[in-house]
Amino acid sequence: MSSRRVLTGITTSGTPHLGNYAGAIRPAIDASRPAGVESFYFLADYHALIKTADPARVQRSTLEIAASWLAAGLDTDRVWFYRQSDIPEIPELTWLLTCVAGKGLLNRAHAYKAAVDRNLAEGVDPDAGVNMGLFMYPVLMAADILMFKAHSVPVGRDQIQHIEMARDIAARFNHLYGEHFVLPEAAVDESVATLPGLDGRKMSKSYDNTIPLFAPRAELKKLIFSIVTDSREPGEPKDAEGSALFQLYQAFATPQETRAMRAAFEEGIAWGEAKQALFERIDRAIAPMRERYLELIAEPARIEDRLREGALKARAIATPFLAELRHAVGLRGLASATAAQVAERPKAAVLPQFKQYREADGRFYFKFVDGEGRLLLQGAGFDSPRDAGRCVAGLKQGAPFVALGDELAMEGRAVATLAAGATLEEVRAALAALAA
Ligand code: TRP
Repeated sequence: MSSRRVLTGITTSGTPHLGNYAGAIRPAIDASRPAGVESFYFLADYHALIKTADPARVQRSTLEIAASWLAAGLDTDRVWFYRQSDIPEIPELTWLLTCVAGKGLLNRAHAYKAAVDRNLAEGVDPDAGVNMGLFMYPVLMAADILMFKAHSVPVGRDQIQHIEMARDIAARFNHLYGEHFVLPEAAVDESVATLPGLDGRKMSKSYDNTIPLFAPRAELKKLIFSIVTDSREPGEPKDAEGSALFQLYQAFATPQETRAMRAAFEEGIAWGEAKQALFERIDRAIAPMRERYLELIAEPARIEDRLREGALKARAIATPFLAELRHAVGLRGLASATAAQVAERPKAAVLPQFKQYREADGRFYFKFVDGEGRLLLQGAGFDSPRDAGRCVAGLKQGAPFVALGDELAMEGRAVATLAAGATLEEVRAALAALAA
């Protein structure tokens, strides 16, 4: 596989806004065009269930997001565009990964930790209101990424930790079962625009300050005229850099248009006039897409068909790969197993061990043997099993002993003899191996 695989998911829990377009949709579509790139863009609807328990919202968001990407010019002949829940191999892979993912790793996930910290601050149970979906979020995301052997995962800063966890989980699986997974890397593009919202903070559904990407013209205009500005009068020079209006303009304008707008700010353009210019510029960029969007939304069955086709294309990769992984972990058909394979037991590393027993003389003894069963120490006779057991426990726990020739003594009493051919170094090494 010589081409580079790029993969990213979009959680289907909201309506796409201008910030999603400039920050994710537009750059992803641009990035999918060069030859030598294989792009996987999918609707993360399983992830949506972690955020919302509103079924209608999940369905509506899935439709709106799919239509937005198609309207924005995504070429589904070039790109793998599918819905996560159409790929049953993904939840199955999630389980295989769950069994190698450290719980401690997931305890450290930012989103889960933030929920726990909030609970602690409020003095309630640390896990109050936390569902296992939130806890397992990074494992499901790792399955999304690893399933398609993505090299690069374009995400926002808040997702970098998740990509690192996917790498971690993949490395652990590879270590246990062989090199099946590609270790992915997060791609955070600093040049991609982060748009301000109506109140000047980052445009985000959680701040309720968004401008929907395909708002009707009248609503778009109304929202743009509601963007917060300062009280500078017409004719007063205005600062372009700190202005939300200017940043929004820049995200949709050519460099030349942007320069002209910067000059207009310096010359004291009235806020109303700047808003009108912004509205016209955005509307000009969006209008052709909006038209396609409305056509698409009017025929959801056609979008459904496109997603089904995308799922077939994705499963052409996922189905055989999952079969390989099932085999790797031992989920195998029995018909083809030979008697010899079944009888074969892996040679587990055998640890040194103590063996305790009673002799015909009525006393209690122990032996210490190495991993191959070779005798290292022969214990002296003890009067009771408790005494013999205490001595063994002492040796296991690293209690000090002294060696006088072949005799080992603890607490002033001879407790064992070095076996013929064994050395004190071997005894110490075997005790250390056992303690580890
Ligand atoms: N968690 C991502 C987000 O909220 C969405 C997502 C799900 C994703 N699976 C993914 C992103 C796999 C990249 C790769 O933004």
